[in-house]
Amino acid sequence: MTGVFDQMAFRRALGQFPTGVCVMTTKVEGELLGMTMSSFNSLSLDPALVLFSIDKRARSLPQWEQARGYAIHVLSEGQQALSNRFAGRQGDKWAGLEFDTGLFDVPLLHGVAARFECAPHQIHEAGDHRLFIARVDRFTANPDRRPLLFTGGRYGAVQSNTEEAPIWPLAIHY
Ligand SMILES: Cc1cc2nc3c(=O)[nH]c(=O)nc-3n(C[C@H](O)[C@H](O)[C@H](O)COP(=O)(O)O)c2cc1C
Repeated sequence: MTGVFDQMAFRRALGQFPTGVCVMTTKVEGELLGMTMSSFNSLSLDPALVLFSIDKRARSLPQWEQARGYAIHVLSEGQQALSNRFAGRQGDKWAGLEFDTGLFDVPLLHGVAARFECAPHQIHEAGDHRLFIARVDRFTANPDRRPLLFTGGRYGAVQSNTEEAPIWPLAIHY
C-alpha cells in the first residue's frame, strides 16, 4: 500500500458495518468480569462456534484468557445503559446488578435478546487484539425482543420489518 494509512478513516469505514451489541461475562478465581463487545460473530454451525476479539489494552484480558467458560449476551433494545456500564474501565461494573448463574459458574444477565453459554475453543494472536473462538454449549433466544444495534459509533434500533419475508437461510447449497 502506498501513502499514509488513515486509521480514523479506517474506523469510519468499519463503522458502516452495523453490528449488535453483546456483553460477555465470566467468573475467574471468584471475580466477576463483564465486557461490552461488538466484535461477536457466528463462525461455525457444526461444531457450534462463535468468535469475538479483545483489545490487548483491556485490563481484564489476562483473566479472559484463563476463563473456563463465558456467557455472551446479545443486548436488546433499551439496554444501552447495560452496554455503557460494561464498557467502562473504572469502578465496579456489577454494583446493584441482578444475575443468575450458568455453566462454569458464569453470571447470566436478564432481559437480553439472546444468550450463548460457551467454553473456550481457541485463542489466536490478531494484531492489537486477541481473537477468541468459543464453543457454544447452551443457548437461548427471545424473538419478541429486538436487538440493540451499533453503527457509526452510535446505538441504533431495528426498524419494523415484519412485512418483509425473511431472506435467510437462503435456498442454496454452499
Ligand atoms: C459498543 C461497544 C463495543 C465494544 N466492542 C469491543 C470489542 O469488540 N472488543 C474490545 O476489546 N472492546 C470493545 N469495547 C470496549 C470494551 O467494552 C472496554 O474497553 C472494556 O470493557 C474495558 O475492559 P477492562 O475494564 O478490562 O479494561 C466496546 C465498547 C462499546 C461501547
